[in-house]
This record gives sequence, structure tokens and C-alpha cells, in this order.
Amino acid sequence: MNDLLQIAIDGPASAGKSTVAKLVAHQLGYVYCDTGAMYRAVTWAALKRGVKLDDNLALEEMVAEIKISFTPSDEGQRVYVDQDEVTDDIRLPEIANNVSTVAAQLSVREALTKRQQEIAFKGGIVMDGRDIGTTVLPDAQVKIFLVASVKERALRRFKENKAKGIMADLEQLEQEIAERDRKDSTRAVSPLVQAADAVKVDTTMLSIEQVVAKIMGIIQKKSKK
Ligand code: CDP
Ligand code: CDP
Repeated sequence: MNDLLQIAIDGPASAGKSTVAKLVAHQLGYVYCDTGAMYRAVTWAALKRGVKLDDNLALEEMVAEIKISFTPSDEGQRVYVDQDEVTDDIRLPEIANNVSTVAAQLSVREALTKRQQEIAFKGGIVMDGRDIGTTVLPDAQVKIFLVASVKERALRRFKENKAKGIMADLEQLEQEIAERDRKDSTRAVSPLVQAADAVKVDTTMLSIEQVVAKIMGIIQKKSKK
């Protein structure tokens, strides 16, 4: 496998995108880019500055002023907004419940899409999100659309919270995930939708290792063509 590929992994919340994208990138020696973290970081900055979350123009100005950066560390990628480390804060429910509103704004999408295209330009990248295969990298050689039932995805978030010592309400998690899916899939700009040339992988009954093996198989098949 000599060519440096662009690998796009899209799908709804908690389908396992970031977990498997990181592992696939590691196996290939590629860079991993979590585009959801970028939308979350913009949401964090808007809440901190008191910018209205659906004010397209105000968000445009704010996004032009802030710098979102990633740095690798032993515990994974750290996310910064200017000098502030926001790695943990962007995972809080307050961000999860507001990010879809910010991500629906055209100015935010245009600015972040441009940045993501620059990051992926040379290939050798695994990028996960909602619109990577459709909008950000329409020519990506490998496109995966990861799905799982809402029940299974809520359970995954529940377990994730429990491991951090947070007891969440499973039913509420299910409702929040379903609501975010609805907003992400119905927005006017770059909605969450499977690209025509993406391979769908249903992870409901699969372990992380099984999903990674499946994706590595798809990549190998594609790169032989
Ligand atoms: O990890 P999780 O699936 O919960 O979400 P995420 O990947 O961190 O993305 C958070 C939110 O950012 C999504 O619900 C979308 O509203 C938005 N997003 C987007 O619109 N486009 C992307 N390429 C990535 C994320
Ligand atoms: O990035 P996305 O929101 O799509 O999902 P994630 O944060 O990678 O995965 C959500 C949770 O599901 C994590 O705790 C994973 O360990 C878990 N997971 C799983 O249990 N089985 C899979 N096949 C994939 C992920």
C-alpha cells in the first residue's frame, strides 16, 4: 500500500467512529482527524463568549478570530482553543446538546470544511465526522458509513459515562442521541447522509476489533484496485 489514501468515516453519534478511526489510523501509520471535536470546540468558544448559537454572522467573526489546534499526547489527542485546553470540556453534555445548532450554521461549516481539506490534502489521513465522504473529501478513496441501533449507541454512551463515574439516565441518553441524529440529518447544509460510494458497516452486534478488521479489509480491497 504505497499511496497515501484519504479515508472518510461518517455516521451518527456513538456509532464508534472515533474509536475505530483512531485504531485504523494507528495500524496504517496515518494521521487521525476528529472533525466533531472541531465543531465541539467552536460551540465551547461560542458559549464562553456569549455568542448566540444560531447567529451565523457573529459565529463567522468568532471562528475567524479563534485558533483550534490538536496536539498528540500519551492519553490521546489534546484539543485547544487558542491557549485554553478544552479536551475534556468539549465532551460535557452542555456541548453535546448544543453542537448541532452551531454545526448547522453555514459560516461555521465553510470555515471548518476549508480547514479540514487543508489537513487532509496530502492524504495519509483517517477523518471522521458527518459529511466527510459527501462534502469535505468527496474524492476520498475509501468511504465508510458506520451505523448502529439507537439503543446500542445510547448503551455505549451510558457505559462510557459509568466508567467515568457518571450515572446517566439511559432513556434520556437515547432521546438526546435521537434528537441530535434528527438535527444532523435534516439540516440544510451538509446533512448527515451516506455518500453514494460509501460502504455501510452496521456495528450493532460487532466488537471494536471486528469493526476495525472489517474496515482494514475494505481498505485493502480498495487499494488493490
Ligand atoms: O462523538 P459524537 O458522535 O457524539 O459526535 P462528534 O463526532 O463529536 O460530533 C459532534 C457534532 O458535531 C455532531 O452531532 C454534528 O452536529 C457536528 N458535526 C458535523 O456537523 N459535521 C462533522 N463533520 C462532524 C461533526
Ligand atoms: O465517535 P462516535 O461518537 O461515533 O463513537 P465513539 O465515541 O468512538 O464510540 C462510543 C463508545 O462505543 C465508545 O465507548 C466505544 O468504546 C464504544 N464502542 C463499542 O462498544 N463497540 C463498537 N463496535 C464501537 C464502539
